[in-house]
Amino acid sequence: MASPVPSSLSVAFDFTGRHVFVAGGSSGINLGIARAFARQGARVSIASRSGERIAAALALLREDGDRIDAEGYACDVRDYDGVDAALAAAHERFGEIDVVVSGAAGNFVAPALGMSSKGFRTVVDIDLIGTFNVLRAAHARLRKPGAVAINISAPQASNPTAYQAHVCAAKAGVDMLTRVLAIEWGSDGVRVNAIVPGPIDDTEGVRRLAPGDDARAAMAASVPLGRFGSVADVAHMALMLASPLCGFVTGAVVPVDGGSMLRGGRDLGAAVGARVGA
Ligand code: COA
Repeated sequence: MASPVPSSLSVAFDFTGRHVFVAGGSSGINLGIARAFARQGARVSIASRSGERIAAALALLREDGDRIDAEGYACDVRDYDGVDAALAAAHERFGEIDVVVSGAAGNFVAPALGMSSKGFRTVVDIDLIGTFNVLRAAHARLRKPGAVAINISAPQASNPTAYQAHVCAAKAGVDMLTRVLAIEWGSDGVRVNAIVPGPIDDTEGVRRLAPGDDARAAMAASVPLGRFGSVADVAHMALMLASPLCGFVTGAVVPVDGGSMLRGGRDLGAAVGARVGA
């Protein structure tokens, strides 16, 4: 089960013929991850709620050349049967899955007293239950040993952040699920890790959490590296975690955040607090 040391880095990052399934893959960071794997030769399945967004994402992926092999499946990660059907169809089309990425997420900014029980549950359903559903349904279709699961977490999992009670609770669950499944699935040769993207430019998350030039500038200035990250920064970590270079890495929750988590989550709370009038 030990991974051989690759003879060169280009071999380590060659995913030719590998099947990568990305839940939430029609936009943002997840689409960037799908694109990075496709460019490295992988066959890519993306799943998302909206057929329209899937079609746009597939068109973008195919801009990278005729040899890009990509397919899309409409499902809501909150619905286990729908997720299971999407994974079954993807398995039928491209074969056993080598890498499964669980990245579907929902968010809105509101104080706990400004969200209903349903509002809180909606985000927990998408982020935490959705991740369980995707990995639970994927397990039977993974190429074992050697398959890799990558969950997309968030800084809110470890930084208590005002006006983000739902996301903090859900993503803390995602981190713990990552660690538990790493233990349970280690004997199958399946590695389970998570990436924690910090403020990544050109994403729905940053648009929601830092709307407007002032909020954007404050957010960028709060990052020790002094800038927003890029979707490529996160995609490169996904390639790294899926590669044999990380063959002994499991249960890891890896920040890709320019050091921003070192500063905690209170700044975001203060910034959005003014906006929600709390
Ligand atoms: N403040 C308070 N409650 C809110 C809210 C807000 N800004 N936005 C949504 N909610 C509540 C709704 O009021 C509803 O609860 P209610 O019926 O008790 O009033 C509950 O959340 C569900 O909302 P709904 O719009 O029906 O759910 P949905 O499944 O269509 O949407 C969300 C899910 C709420 C997460 C929505 O923001 C979304 O679809 N986001 C997708 C994209 C995204 O968030 N990306 C960022 C990733 S970081």
